[in-house]
Amino acid sequence: MRRMKFVLASNNQKKLIELRAILGAQGHEVLSLHDCGVESDPEETGQTFEQNALIKARSACAAAGIPAVADDSGLVVDALGGAPGVRSARYCPGSDADRVNFLLKNMQSVPDGKRTARFVSAVACVFPDGREIVARGECEGVILPAARGTGGFGYDPVFYVPQEKMTFAELPPQRKNAVSHRGRALAAFSERLKEILG
Ligand code: IMP
Repeated sequence: MRRMKFVLASNNQKKLIELRAILGAQGHEVLSLHDCGVESDPEETGQTFEQNALIKARSACAAAGIPAVADDSGLVVDALGGAPGVRSARYCPGSDADRVNFLLKNMQSVPDGKRTARFVSAVACVFPDGREIVARGECEGVILPAARGTGGFGYDPVFYVPQEKMTFAELPPQRKNAVSHRGRALAAFSERLKEILG
């Protein structure tokens, strides 16, 4: 398969590290917007993860002129009717820790057994010639009543994966990449990419 150079349509350093690890293992190079000397921060007006990933990838591809990859992801909590969902990054103002605390507060009265949730990731890739790929990955888990672990980012410390017996923040990064929503979406994306690149 041809080795490709992509721009990541995100300013999130942690996502860049995860994407570089996953796509780099297949010989692809992932540049940041900064590496390409461009800016791209479109409003995420989509109703779904797929729509928002495409909005970001189209904008970055137009700005950088090379294939752009975007991930739109979030946490879908059953007891909260799917919140924070596509609004995960904007669930409340402040830091990741503030958003985790807000989530825990909103789930204070939710008993064990009803704290099921999943991380969802949509990965979109847009080529300068207009071709588009979208792939989705999910990872099932449970929201703990208190944070555990220091790795990862976002809601990782409260997202417990029963099969791994650890939170995302406790998993070694390679293991998180292997089982995570983003890892799964990127694996599906890689298959589609192989078909397209031949
Ligand atoms: P996005 O940049 O619009 O895709 O925002 C995704 C948000 O969902 C992040 O800011 C985090 O709050 C949350 N999120 C997505 N993926 C992860 C993950 O792997 N771990 C923890 N939180 C995540």
